[in-house]
Amino acid sequence: MSKPCFVKSTIGRKVIAAISGIALMLFIVVHLGGNLTMLVPDNGATFNAYAHKLHSLGPLLWVARAGLLIFFLGHVITAIGVRLDEKRARPVGYAITASKGGPSKQTWSSRSMLITGLIILLFVPFHIWMFTLNQGADHARIVQHGVEMKDVYLSVVRGFSNPVKAWAYVAVMALLGFHLRHGFWSAFQSLGALSPKCAPVAYTAGLIFALLMAVGFLILPLYILYFGPDPETLRVAMN
Ligand code: HEM
Repeated sequence: MSKPCFVKSTIGRKVIAAISGIALMLFIVVHLGGNLTMLVPDNGATFNAYAHKLHSLGPLLWVARAGLLIFFLGHVITAIGVRLDEKRARPVGYAITASKGGPSKQTWSSRSMLITGLIILLFVPFHIWMFTLNQGADHARIVQHGVEMKDVYLSVVRGFSNPVKAWAYVAVMALLGFHLRHGFWSAFQSLGALSPKCAPVAYTAGLIFALLMAVGFLILPLYILYFGPDPETLRVAMN
């Protein structure tokens, strides 16, 4: 029997899922950093200026978006492939989940990777439609320090002033946290980067990373819903 090529082998898929997963985690860190500027109490001026800087990158932004899309699709396809390979190898699940010689690394996070991953897969196109594609009837724009730019902050305030949307985001961000908790540790494990000594450190680091990301993201819809400005009067007051 001929050997499958690297990309189609289980180990190849695991390596691609791990590398693309790490790239997506870096994106999430940068995205959260930018989004946290929404908390600056200046009616979104800092956040809009940050978004405008990104939009001004022009072709470079499209290269970054293309790279992100490749990593995202690569991650989804290879991660599902790994899960199917595991299912084919062991059609009946384990009766007892325990690790040899140590506490089990099987948690709700690890067992639900497919379901949390699929929810994030559905979330991302909805999210891009909500904040990037759907400009609103008035194509919200603003002039800040003499520069005209997209009023991304107003779009976010409009979106999260709807409690259903805000709480749906909170739920998805919590699930993202569960996905990252296992994903972080598992990515480095798949790359063979974890010696038995540093595996527990990576496991704890994954837990801290997941908590920081989930809490960082989910405070944004809650803050805007309960403490943010009224979208109807936000810009009226400034004129
Ligand atoms: C409360 C949580 C989040 C908020 C408030 C938020 C906010 C935003 C906003 C305002 C934009 C449009 C930016 C612009 O027009 O410049 C955006 C774009 C985007 N977000 Fe989020 N985001 C959140 C969570 C996430 C998460 C968890 C992911 C990934 C899993 C994500 C992935 C993306 C992507 C891929 C884009 C498109 C980037 C582009 O078009 O260049 N976001 N987000």
